[in-house]
Amino acid sequence: MPDNVIIRAKDVQKTYNTGKVVVQALRGLDLEVKQGEMVAIMGPSGCGKTTLLNTLSGLDAIDEGVIEIDGRNLAKMSDKERTAYRAANMGFVFQFYNLLPVLTAVENVEMPLLLDYSSRIKAKEARKLAGEALTAVGLPDQGDQRPTELSGGQQQRVTIARALVNKPAIVWADEPTGDLDSKTSQEIMDLMRRLNRENGQTFVIVTHSLEIGEQCDRIVWMKDGLVVGEPQPQPTAVPANGHVNGHSSDHSKSATLVPDLQAISNN
Ligand SMILES: Nc1ncnc2c1ncn2[C@@H]1O[C@H](COP(=O)(O)OP(=O)(O)OP(=O)(O)O)[C@@H](O)[C@H]1O
Ligand SMILES: [Mg+2]
Repeated sequence: MPDNVIIRAKDVQKTYNTGKVVVQALRGLDLEVKQGEMVAIMGPSGCGKTTLLNTLSGLDAIDEGVIEIDGRNLAKMSDKERTAYRAANMGFVFQFYNLLPVLTAVENVEMPLLLDYSSRIKAKEARKLAGEALTAVGLPDQGDQRPTELSGGQQQRVTIARALVNKPAIVWADEPTGDLDSKTSQEIMDLMRRLNRENGQTFVIVTHSLEIGEQCDRIVWMKDGLVVGEPQPQPTAVPANGHVNGHSSDHSKSATLVPDLQAISNN
């Protein structure tokens, strides 16, 4: 794609209707993320961050608007195509994508490779790649341990190894350091940052931690189902250089745009 934008969301609207209440979780959201960027999504609880990740990644459908991943509209794919596209191109570090307790660490990590039918990867090769991924996240000797035999930080590292094992173009992380102490959080952040730099993979990380957010290339602040605090494309024309910062962006710049939100997000 000429402008290097890998994630493009335009006027995205998403409503949940539980039968009793109707919640407008995304209200016409616009977002662009460049390939290789590491972006933090921040904002108060309930503002739509998880909904955004679920819809951008095609796990959940939207009501209005357009989402393009690497120029492709996932909504136009069949369920099967979309699942295959996700397996080949996306990694997930989600809390509900927990590790399977009955499987060892290496078995958990190799799962995406075995589920990606398009790759036709052999079991032996999958095992080898999973072992390498565990080594990359600093767990070379823990492959045979089950999740319950690992610390919280180690479990999260296994989740990251699993998200990265097939070298996906995009990694979605929803509060990847949420349950971890600050030292372990920093280790996980360092790990993601290193993988982002070494492999050029795009990271979209939802976090409540400003410390984590400030280590990303850019913070996208959300409130009430919209992006706030950074320039929005005009309804009629998207500026050529949009609101996307480059890799060497000054973290403090985006962080000081909406100081009032920082306080809220520190809960
Ligand atoms: N499956 C669902 N059914 C109905 N409403 C939902 C559903 N999922 C989310 N919502 C509502 O949509 C809004 C956005 O929720 P979302 O989970 O995206 O927020 P969030 O920013 O991720 O919050 P948090 O920081 O607490 O995780 C909230 O009002 C929430 O109650
Ligand atoms: Mg959430």
